[in-house]
Amino acid sequence: MNSNIVEFRPYKPEDMESIERIIARTWGSQENEPTNADIVYSKVYIAYCLMISTYAETALIDGSPVGVVMARDLSVRKHFVLKLVLFLLRNFWRVLRPSGIMALIALYRIEIANPRELLRGCPEYAGELTLLITSPEARGHGIGKRLYADAVRYLNGAGAGRFFLYTDTECGYGFYDRAGLVRRKEQKMVYRIVSGVAEMTAFIYDSVKD
Ligand SMILES: CC(C)(COP(=O)(O)OP(=O)(O)OC[C@H]1O[C@@H](n2cnc3c(N)ncnc32)[C@H](O)[C@@H]1OP(=O)(O)O)[C@@H](O)C(=O)NCCC(=O)NCCS
Repeated sequence: MNSNIVEFRPYKPEDMESIERIIARTWGSQENEPTNADIVYSKVYIAYCLMISTYAETALIDGSPVGVVMARDLSVRKHFVLKLVLFLLRNFWRVLRPSGIMALIALYRIEIANPRELLRGCPEYAGELTLLITSPEARGHGIGKRLYADAVRYLNGAGAGRFFLYTDTECGYGFYDRAGLVRRKEQKMVYRIVSGVAEMTAFIYDSVKD
């Protein structure tokens, strides 16, 4: 790592393939060779994160993407329904097959229904951290910390310093305890995912100091 060149810059469409692979390796059924279903899920997932986010930054080592962070200023109208229609049209060939349909159902449960349920009774938020991930090889070198700090700086600058994030036990959620966020809510969840049935605990973390 010491002699490698680490760079941080705004996300570019050309980063997508590498990021999809990192997502598939992290949350897919196999770490080294993601299955087609894992790749389809990660394609749909990153497309969704990009659709809802107002900020995205990529970390690169020697020119190759190794991490990404995305955040959302909730005051910015994202024309959700229009974007959803465009998203489905653009991803038509990906979602129009069994793994695509499964990916959409999993995405709906994990990214929309569960957070909505868990957010009930939480404080009002102005921002959201929508995605933070680094590649398995790049972890433990401060890259996640820097991406997170940049996203928080963006949210604070946008007046969205009261932000939340949704995560679960499939993720390295201890990172957010370490970052000083408050674990506001948690709930056990059981649902179907591409590779079977998953049982996990979901969390809302936020930046609101009581
Ligand atoms: C969580 C994740 C983004 C951390 O990225 P990273 O590049 O390894 O993080 P860093 O090297 O910058 O670590 C920063 C600090 O957080 C700590 N940390 C990192 N992962 C942690 C974890 N899972 N639990 C507790 N602390 C953690 C580090 O020890 C380090 O502490 P320090 O400041 O005392 O040195 C990365 O492990 C990852 O992508 N995991 C899979 C996806 C994920 O879980 N995303 C986030 C939750 S949805």
